[in-house]
Amino acid sequence: EKGGYDHFMLKEIYEQPKSIADCLRGRLDAKSGRLVLGGLRDYMNKFQNAERIIITACGTSWHAGLVAEYLFEEFARVPVEVEYASEFRYRNPVVGEKDFVIAISQSGETADTLAAIELAKSKGATIFGVCNVVGSSIPRTTHAGSYTHAGPEIGVASTKAFTAQISVLAMMALKLGYQRGTLPESKYIQLLHELEAIPGKVEQALKTNDAIKYIAEEYKNVRNALYLGRGYNFPVALEGALKLKEISYIHAEGYPAAEMKHGPIALIDEEMPVFFIATKDSSYEKVVSNIQEVKARKGKVIAVVTEGDTQVKAIADHVIEVPATHEAFAPLVAVVPLQLLSYHIAVMRGCNVDQPRNLAKSVTVE
Ligand code: F6R
Repeated sequence: EKGGYDHFMLKEIYEQPKSIADCLRGRLDAKSGRLVLGGLRDYMNKFQNAERIIITACGTSWHAGLVAEYLFEEFARVPVEVEYASEFRYRNPVVGEKDFVIAISQSGETADTLAAIELAKSKGATIFGVCNVVGSSIPRTTHAGSYTHAGPEIGVASTKAFTAQISVLAMMALKLGYQRGTLPESKYIQLLHELEAIPGKVEQALKTNDAIKYIAEEYKNVRNALYLGRGYNFPVALEGALKLKEISYIHAEGYPAAEMKHGPIALIDEEMPVFFIATKDSSYEKVVSNIQEVKARKGKVIAVVTEGDTQVKAIADHVIEVPATHEAFAPLVAVVPLQLLSYHIAVMRGCNVDQPRNLAKSVTVE
């Protein structure tokens, strides 16, 4: 049932071109400008008139929520807050009828996320679920929702669920921006085409596998790693670090690249690998400066870059090239090499990648 792969995690990483396409199928058709999310139909009014969007989730799903914050604010100009469900539920949050709450969960069973939903619901907010497991507890508790349709995710480390979550959230953001008039039609159509092209670009990104194995061999024995990115790629840095720590047990931290000089830079020496997500986007030049700062302190730089990049290539120790896309969708492509990297490092270290120690697929206790 692993379909010829050694582990479910690797199978699920490789399924992403298909799982993202499955998620978009029947919902998005760029040519006709069609974008329909069945779950939103009855709640479009609430969504469109919401004064604020609150996103609540845990772990990797929370990282997808952070990407969504950038998407919703850029395209729909609605204020967004992204909350760890465990914090939200216990801090007597300010939430009410004008809030549209999006709860993201692969399993649909996470105890803290469920409790956060119950709380927001009791205060009159509208609750929308973005879940993978059909018929699980969260979709039964929310007012409405959209399934991610990624198929069963068995590896404990979330991979294809993450990219499917971002795909649903991206469709929601484009729809909302279009409906609210903050996203002009021509730009909207262009973005629909970009999103539709993502499965093919993820397929391309998977071809970095051999190069990544080589990098994994070189860094498999490190004790620490830093992951840095800006803008849409900041949550990708967090996700890259989480993937590495949870399956390889290497200590890793993700940061917005600019925060480096406020502390983490002290960690950098010749032993320290720093993984940059440095795709061509509006913060590219700034990221290049951050890479130079790391190199000046003799850190090792491994960078995910856009195909054809020359600037980062000239200074980094290793680059991993992924296809160009609109920066808003870069996380869907850029996360793939980081998933592969964690996978290979964990396998080389003899770790149980599908069932890392101390972790469970569904966290049904708080
Ligand atoms: C990381 C991971 C966890 C989950 C988190 C939330 O790879 O799998 O961080 O993302 O426990 O789980 P769900 O999405 O099922 O609510």
